[in-house]
Amino acid sequence: MSAISEEAVKQLFTEARTYPGWLPEPVSDETLHAIYDFMKWGPTSANLSPARIVFVKTPEAKEKLIPCLMPMNVEKVKAAPVTAIVAYDDEFHELIPKLFPMGMGFLETFRSNRQFRETSAMRNGSLQGGYFILAARALGLDCGPMSGFDNAKLDEAFFAGTKWKSNFICNIGHGDPKSVHPRLPRLTFEEACRID
Ligand SMILES: Cc1cc2nc3c(=O)[nH]c(=O)nc-3n(C[C@H](O)[C@H](O)[C@H](O)COP(=O)(O)O)c2cc1C
Repeated sequence: MSAISEEAVKQLFTEARTYPGWLPEPVSDETLHAIYDFMKWGPTSANLSPARIVFVKTPEAKEKLIPCLMPMNVEKVKAAPVTAIVAYDDEFHELIPKLFPMGMGFLETFRSNRQFRETSAMRNGSLQGGYFILAARALGLDCGPMSGFDNAKLDEAFFAGTKWKSNFICNIGHGDPKSVHPRLPRLTFEEACRID
C-alpha cells in the first residue's frame, strides 16, 4: 500500500538504519547542496523555516566539534565523512517579510513573545531535522543522528556572536553495515495511535 515504489519505502523507512560506523567514502559538496534542496520543501508553520545547517567536513572543523561530544560519540564523528550540525536561527522571525509576507502580524508576536519563539523554533527546526534525514536517505546516504553533546559548548565553538543555536547533530555518509546493532522494536499502532 504505497504511492512510491517499495524500494523507495525501504530506503526511506523500513530498511533505513541509524549507523554508528562509516565506510571511508567521501560525500561531495554537490550532494550536501542536494540534501538542502530537498529538505527545504518540507512544511513549517507559517513557512518559518528556522533550521540552519553547518556541514562539518574539514579536519579543522572536526577538531572543533570533537571536544563538544559525549565520549560515546567521538569515534562515530571521527569516522563519518560529514557531520551536520542541525541548528536553528533564534531570530528566524526577522525573515517573515521574505518567507511569509502575508502574515506580517506574526513579526511583532515573535519579537515580543520569547516563549512562543522558542517553541516555534524547536518544533519547526526539529521537523526540518526529520526532513533532513529523509532527504539524505532519498539521496542514497545513511544517517547517524545524535544529541549526545554539549549544546552550549558547541554553540560557543561554532556560533559565538550569532543567533544560531544547535539542536542535534547528524553523521552522514555511507554506513558500515557491519556496525549496526539488531533493530530495536517500535511501538505497535495500538500502543502509539488512536483513531477517534
Ligand atoms: C535526536 C536523536 C538523538 C540521538 N542521539 C544519539 C547519541 O547521542 N548517540 C548515539 O549513539 N545514538 C543516538 N541516536 C540514535 C538512536 O538511538 C537511533 O536512531 C534509534 O535507536 C533507532 O535506530 P535505528 O534507526 O537503527 O532503528 C539518536 C537519535 C536521534 C533521532
